[in-house]
Amino acid sequence: MFQLAVGDELILLLHVILWFDEPAPHATSFLGSQKQIEKLLVLTVATEETDGFLRFMQSAKYFNYTVLGMGEGWKGGDVGRSIGGGQKIRLLKEAMEALADQEDLVVLSVDSYDLIFAGGPEEILRKFQQANHKVVFAAEGLVWPDKKLADQYPSVRSGKRYLNSGGIIGYAPYINSIVSQWNLHDNDDDQLFYTKIYLDPLQRQTLNMTLDHKCQIFQNLNGAVDEVLLKFGTDRVRVRNTMYDSLPAVVHGNGNTKMYLNYLANYVPNAWSYEHGCSHCDDDGEFRSLAGLLCCLCYPDVMVGVFIEQPTPFLPEFFQRLLTLDYPKDKLRVFVHNNEVYHEKHIQNFWEENRNVFSSFKVVGPEENLSQGEARNMGMDLCRKDATCDYYFSIDSDVMLTNRQTLKLLIEQNRKIIGPLVTRHGKLWSNFWGALSLDGYYARSEDYVDIVQRKRVGVWNIPYMAHVYLVKGSALRNELKERNFFILEKLDPDMALCRNARELGVFMYITNRHDFGRLISTANYNISHYNNDLWQIFENPVDWKEKYIHQNYTRIFTENYLEEPCPDVYWFPVFSEKACDELVEEMEHYGSWSGGKHERIAGGYETVPTDDIHMKQIGFDKEWLHFIREFISPVTLKVFSGYYTKGYAIMNFVVKYTPDRQAYLRPHHDSSTFTINIALNNKDRDFQGGGCRFHRYNCSIESPRKGWSFMHPGRLTHLHEGLPTTNGTRYIAVSFIDP
Ligand SMILES: *[C@@H]1O[C@H](CO)[C@@H](O)[C@H](O)[C@H]1NC(C)=O
Ligand SMILES: *[C@@H]1O[C@H](CO)[C@@H](O)[C@H](O)[C@H]1NC(C)=O
Ligand SMILES: *[C@@H]1O[C@H](CO)[C@@H](O)[C@H](O)[C@H]1NC(C)=O
Ligand SMILES: *[C@@H]1O[C@H](CO)[C@@H](O)[C@H](O)[C@H]1NC(C)=O
Ligand SMILES: *[C@@H]1O[C@H](CO)[C@@H](O)[C@H](O)[C@H]1NC(C)=O
Ligand SMILES: *[C@@H]1O[C@H](CO)[C@@H](O)[C@H](O)[C@H]1NC(C)=O
Ligand SMILES: *[C@@H]1O[C@H](CO)[C@@H](O)[C@H](O)[C@H]1NC(C)=O
Repeated sequence: MFQLAVGDELILLLHVILWFDEPAPHATSFLGSQKQIEKLLVLTVATEETDGFLRFMQSAKYFNYTVLGMGEGWKGGDVGRSIGGGQKIRLLKEAMEALADQEDLVVLSVDSYDLIFAGGPEEILRKFQQANHKVVFAAEGLVWPDKKLADQYPSVRSGKRYLNSGGIIGYAPYINSIVSQWNLHDNDDDQLFYTKIYLDPLQRQTLNMTLDHKCQIFQNLNGAVDEVLLKFGTDRVRVRNTMYDSLPAVVHGNGNTKMYLNYLANYVPNAWSYEHGCSHCDDDGEFRSLAGLLCCLCYPDVMVGVFIEQPTPFLPEFFQRLLTLDYPKDKLRVFVHNNEVYHEKHIQNFWEENRNVFSSFKVVGPEENLSQGEARNMGMDLCRKDATCDYYFSIDSDVMLTNRQTLKLLIEQNRKIIGPLVTRHGKLWSNFWGALSLDGYYARSEDYVDIVQRKRVGVWNIPYMAHVYLVKGSALRNELKERNFFILEKLDPDMALCRNARELGVFMYITNRHDFGRLISTANYNISHYNNDLWQIFENPVDWKEKYIHQNYTRIFTENYLEEPCPDVYWFPVFSEKACDELVEEMEHYGSWSGGKHERIAGGYETVPTDDIHMKQIGFDKEWLHFIREFISPVTLKVFSGYYTKGYAIMNFVVKYTPDRQAYLRPHHDSSTFTINIALNNKDRDFQGGGCRFHRYNCSIESPRKGWSFMHPGRLTHLHEGLPTTNGTRYIAVSFIDP
């Protein structure tokens, strides 16, 4: 390792990766005493330990390039600015002076922020020998920086014609002869310098230089993205150049191809393979086994930013999930940006019930009139400005984290920016993009679907993520110390954040190592009802079921969890408490009870009318029929074996029994093949009396259970009556199915 003082103002480090080829035992015996020891010295210049640099080192370590002298006297610099190309040569020149006389030393000089090794040192040396020149430069198909020089290049029959200085390999004295010619400034262009030497026919011959035209050693991705593919081997993944059928050993994301290199490096050289899955997922986790830490004092402090930017279904459930995260709540500070007056009551309720749970709870409401970008900047700043804030966890209200370990799992992963994969139920929609189109929007990467469907599991470096992510506080105070990340040109706030991170060279990851949760749909959320989530059965069926269907409903099918209190009368759990309460509230909010008159509903003259409100009257008929098809039909099929209902019903209504209005219903048949009757409140708590009596069997059910439904044939056999409610108010939901 060379530490070079450069001028007075800046100390740059020259990282040296050194590898000596020990002859293999059989080679020794074969060659007798004539040990031929080749030496390869890898040199790279880096001013900052960026994510890209760490990745470069990781690939070098994998191939057993010995790494010397890391980590001493590291001086931070401005990552955003790339190193002046000239500076690189000057440093190389200084390093080479000491090595100029080592004739059998092969020097490989490469960039590191945007480059990885795909092959090992033996291979590089072998390919260098095969090239049969003293110096080999990387090649590319685009001429840069001076297009006028294109004609001066020797023509090539096939292969890349132009020099790229991101990779150079050669014998030390020859490299020295080249770089010792440097007498320019740090901000002069390095590639132009090398190009001029190479284009000088005399120098080209005396220094015995050539280009790696067919990407045997160096693959520059700029202009060549379409030429390369991943090639999965048993232990290792390579990049294959399909144009020259070569397997380059050094892959360089030059120019505009950094994101593509990020994609390749999710696999190459051994990051992920079909056989072994993810190999770096558990690397360097400083908080690995956080869950195993005994003392909760060791949990990092997390600022949680919650963003409610549009009316969002199931917001109370969202907050409940936040509350049930498996993480010490006194380590969580909560910042909520709520942009919707509609949600103020939900936040108020949550806060009243949990006011002392979190370390702090701050809400910025719609009256502040903050833009989304301003609000997100504000939340992130709260962590950035407070040195005790270890992590910033940003989560949008449309993210349902079903995995209570999410926060711990993300922290254990130890990345600067990482999001958990969340997807829209049953869709390929998720919170990340695997690639970007030229104009910066979504493009599908080859592996996108496999990642979303968790067919490939790992931690993925991706160009864009949103909705939920964790950012290290230390990164916010260093690489990401600029404020105002969420406002950039006219970009959406999350696109602005991601572009800033990409431009600063901070990698963003998505992990799909666990099932973390889902994204709900906020589209078509009509908030003009009283309990709007009831209407979400189409848009967000999973969340609807979780909220409104009885916890033990599925046990009907798995454990025969239902009863038959009277012949052919089945009794089973179907609605949750919330479903019952919200439906009653909805009806009372609507308020126009029929009063037991005969004539009121179009096409639905009732012989034995109830005091009721029909689902149609509150605009809930489509949703209700869907509920019947999804949740009642399967029960029908089970109990009336062989009877398959289409779940058709015109008469769907909530009945209200109360002593001062209508207290009971005289014996009647229903105009249905079968009828369901769901109790919406509790006997003894909400009312007294009530129940149902079936005449033929002289059988009464007098203790209805809230959320449970009866199901019985409607005609002939099942003449029935509603028994008097003697006190309070009893509500039931009734449907005449298949009339
Ligand atoms: C690196 O060295 C280790 C230990 O000697 C060896 O097991 C491994 O195969 C080597 N890796 C490569 C890519 O050659
Ligand atoms: C370049 O060097 C190689 C040996 O490394 C030699 O065989 C070849 O002839 C040289 N080419 C030129 C043009 O000098
Ligand atoms: C809120 O902000 C927007 C744009 O910043 C502005 O057009 C609007 O008038 C503001 N509304 C209020 C009530 O301040
Ligand atoms: C929302 O629901 C109300 C009441 O049912 C209805 O009048 C309105 O048309 C709905 N709006 C949309 C956009 O569907
Ligand atoms: C579901 O069944 C379990 C066990 O029988 C019971 O403890 C639980 O209370 C039931 N859930 C509801 C919502 O009734
Ligand atoms: C109906 O059952 C009740 C008791 O459950 C009994 O007292 C009554 O006599 C029965 N009525 C008929 C008509 O069988
Ligand atoms: C009716 O219910 C109310 C409260 O729900 C109770 O105070 C009252 O005593 C009840 N009346 C009868 C007759 O049970």
